[in-house]
Amino acid sequence: MAATAAVSPPCALVPCQGLRGALVSTRNFHATKNQRQRGRAVAAPISAKFDLKPPPYPLDALEPHMSQDTISYHWGKHHRGYVENLNMQIVGTDLDGMSLEDIIILSYNKGDILPAFNNAAQIWNHDFFWESMVPNGGGKPSGDLLGLIERDFGSFENFSVKFRSAASTQFGSGWVWLAYKANRLNVGNASNPRPSDEDKKLVVVKSPNAVNPLVWDYLPVLTIDVWEGPKCISFIFSQSRRADYVSMFMEKLVSWETVSARLEMAKAQVAEREREEEKRKYGEDNVNSSNEAVEMYLDSNIEDPAE
Ligand SMILES: [Fe+2]
Repeated sequence: MAATAAVSPPCALVPCQGLRGALVSTRNFHATKNQRQRGRAVAAPISAKFDLKPPPYPLDALEPHMSQDTISYHWGKHHRGYVENLNMQIVGTDLDGMSLEDIIILSYNKGDILPAFNNAAQIWNHDFFWESMVPNGGGKPSGDLLGLIERDFGSFENFSVKFRSAASTQFGSGWVWLAYKANRLNVGNASNPRPSDEDKKLVVVKSPNAVNPLVWDYLPVLTIDVWEGPKCISFIFSQSRRADYVSMFMEKLVSWETVSARLEMAKAQVAEREREEEKRKYGEDNVNSSNEAVEMYLDSNIEDPAE
């Protein structure tokens, strides 16, 4: 296993794990206690594991909209549990050493889900969720993000209705996403009020349990956790309160700055893919024309019976 340390960028604005292809692994590498005691010069085996990454703000920073108790419980217990379980689950397996995103795609297994999927995807989703919020957030986006929302949903208000509706109708626990869709794969509930042949568009999509849009090769830019939580915490994620929760999220907490940065990363990633695809096609064309040239050359060597 490579003993290089992954360096994460600041989390406040740019998603640390955000998008496939522009991915920064959450995998950190730790020397054991004995190795640390022996000092840095000792070349010793290294154990690898995923860390529980804290939200990019203090746990009380979203109050009064989301209480410290709620985040402490949701992040400090549930999110932590996914991290600890995944680390135990993958040690010594083929998944040990892979990025979180690769584990998600592999263990999704085209819908025939393998055991590691739930923990891996829940870690990714929760990191993405915490980073989707900011103190004094909410309101309305601006710039290219707003332009694309207006193009694909007619207006920001229409998008907001669509997003809230998806969140309130997700049965049980799951997630609602705003995602940049740059392929022709249509999953059942990906909705856009202005469907067109345009591949590159924003869609609202919901997913059950731990599923996230990475498995459909969509590029998520925003998510809300529609978690069915216990009644003892201060914000109850129950069906009856879900509409209030989604409104609070949209109006007070969404970090549109982060969403805009993710959208730019998504567009850049798609553009890079297209360049790679063009290069690949160009290479194939050259191989084909090179083969044709060889054939023409061989043909020209055939003696003309008329001579
Ligand atoms: Fe959750």
